[in-house]
Amino acid sequence: MLTDVATVDSGVLPAARGPLSAAVIDALRGRPLRTVEVASADPFGADLAVALHTCYELHYQGFVGVDADWEWSPELLAFRRSLERVFEDALRSSVPPGDDVPAVLDELLVEPVPGTGLSHFLRDEGEWWQLREYVVHRSVYHHKEADPHAWVIPRLRGQAKASLVAVEFDEFGGGHGDRVHARLYADLMAASGLDTGYLHYFDDVPAPMIAIVNMMSLFGLHRRLRGAMVGHFAAAEITTAPSATRLTKAIERLGGGPRTTHFFTEHIEADAVHEQILRHDVIGDLLSREPELAEDVVFGVRATEFLEGAFGAHVSTAWREGRSSLMRELPAHEGPA
Ligand SMILES: [Fe+2]
Ligand SMILES: [Fe+2]
Repeated sequence: MLTDVATVDSGVLPAARGPLSAAVIDALRGRPLRTVEVASADPFGADLAVALHTCYELHYQGFVGVDADWEWSPELLAFRRSLERVFEDALRSSVPPGDDVPAVLDELLVEPVPGTGLSHFLRDEGEWWQLREYVVHRSVYHHKEADPHAWVIPRLRGQAKASLVAVEFDEFGGGHGDRVHARLYADLMAASGLDTGYLHYFDDVPAPMIAIVNMMSLFGLHRRLRGAMVGHFAAAEITTAPSATRLTKAIERLGGGPRTTHFFTEHIEADAVHEQILRHDVIGDLLSREPELAEDVVFGVRATEFLEGAFGAHVSTAWREGRSSLMRELPAHEGPA
């Protein structure tokens, strides 16, 4: 059912995509947690991504019909830890190490010429069904936009904390429930003829986007990774403003009006400001207190680039081959509102 109002409800348990995710989901349904071999799993595959995401979701909205006490089940936390190790090790070995934070952030400001990213494609020649698929992929994150980053607040002190909270205040609507960015995203989905229910499309979304959300939860839930979390946050804010500009143009070219562009136009100016705050006031202040975190800040930036690159490659390969980038095609829809 389509609604104009974002529902702050829980998701339903997802479908399993292999033995790891089946073990977690079956346990949450009340069966004993099975021992499954984790070390040989594909760290970026759908099975591990869904297993980890299901464990993490217990810390966000939980699942309909699942006892909230599972959040602190020692046996499930131990299993989650084994999944995280495989995922984090693979991320670390996929990106070059470094500790020159300003240089790594500056690299992100250099836009590829000619643009090869998804937002370039969507601006110039994307069709409406492709834009809707893009919105569905990202809904896995935007239904809880900025929530993973909130975990880092108690791990920061002084100016870094004050400035990160200033950014989060904007993400959470500046005191207005109807301006919470997750709500603006639900409005975008409604204007695009999509279901706005919390994680409604999770089973339709392939591994690459789920891995991006898992990275945020991993960085947020471990105090040890606070440097990586602020690095990731800065990288996301730096790249959002130009991509939001392109997606606004894409929607306008396809005939959409303010109802459909609002989420993106809101991010054009806001994220240009957020980028500056994160670079100078959050990362700058954090590193002045804890300079040894520089390598993890770089790791957070590069892991974000790496997983976003894999997501972009997945989607553009599917589209180039003329097929859906989702697990199944969306029902047809005439055009944006
Ligand atoms: Fe936002
Ligand atoms: Fe932002």
